[in-house]
This record gives sequence, C-alpha cells and structure tokens, in this order.
Amino acid sequence: MSVKILMVCLGNICRSPLAEGILASKLPKDKFFVDSAGTGAYHIGKQPDQRSVLTAQRNGLDITNQKARQFTSRDFDDFDYIYVMDNTNYDDVIQLAKSENHKNKVHLILNELFPGDNVDVPDPYYGLQNGFDMVYEMLDETCDIISKKLIEKHS
Ligand code: 4NP
Repeated sequence: MSVKILMVCLGNICRSPLAEGILASKLPKDKFFVDSAGTGAYHIGKQPDQRSVLTAQRNGLDITNQKARQFTSRDFDDFDYIYVMDNTNYDDVIQLAKSENHKNKVHLILNELFPGDNVDVPDPYYGLQNGFDMVYEMLDETCDIISKKLIEKHS
C-alpha cells in the first residue's frame, strides 16, 4: 500500500498544484501517491493557473493533467500526511478534523524548512509571474526535505 500525501491551499490552482508536482517528482511512484485540494470551492474542475503551469514547465514539470477539487473531511482518512500552504488553510482544515489523529496529520509545509516558525507560502494569485517563481523555489526546498524524510521513514 502506498503512502499518501495531500497538498492543500485555498483555490487548488496556484500553490498546491505546484507542491503536488514538485513532491511527486521527488518520490518513487510505486510507493507514494501525491494529490492536492483546495479549502475553497471557487475553482473546482479547473486546470492549474497558467502562471503555475508556466513556472512548472520552466522547471521541467508538467502539471496540466491536474484538476482542482475541494478538500473534504474524508481526506483525513484517505491521506497519511496533509501539508497546508498557509495559516488560514491550517485553520480551515483543522476545523474539519474529527479526531486528534486527523489533526496530527496536518502540517504547515514551510515548517519543514523553518521549524516552528509558522511561515506562510504567500498566495501569488493577485501578483505577477515572479511571485509564482518564488513560490516554486520555496516549495522545491521544503519538498526536498519532505521527500528525504518520507523515503527514509517508509523504506
Ligand atoms: P491558491 O491561490 O490558493 O494558491 O490556489 C488562489 C487561487 C484563487 C483564489 C485565491 C487564491 N481566489 O480567490 O479565487
């Protein structure tokens, strides 16, 4: 059975699709499954934002096969690790948790890079392309750490 990791942001069109693509590229597919979801319902069914697609492409990743979906409380049972992009996502996801076990699955993604600092991955939606490139760099660094930990723990 594979280890399942879920990346969560607000719209599931900017940050978490990048996080999904980046982490999936660093993990063996036979042992790990990576998905993403949004706490909001605004963009259900849509492809990632074109600016995320472009940033991913420039870094050798194709994320065009992804489709936005909304986070549901069922995800707590379906996934082993839930990484949220910012503190608001954290609060919104924790609100849906029905047990301590559920809550313990939720981690602020940049705490892997800056432990205990509770730093947000900034929402690039209302900004320019360089905001997406910055988000990519942060996610790439933190996903390096996450992938190494996961491979060590689950092999
Ligand atoms: P994301 O960015 O949470 O990184 O996907 C956003 C996308 C859409 C909106 C907000 C943030 N929106 O308000 O529509």
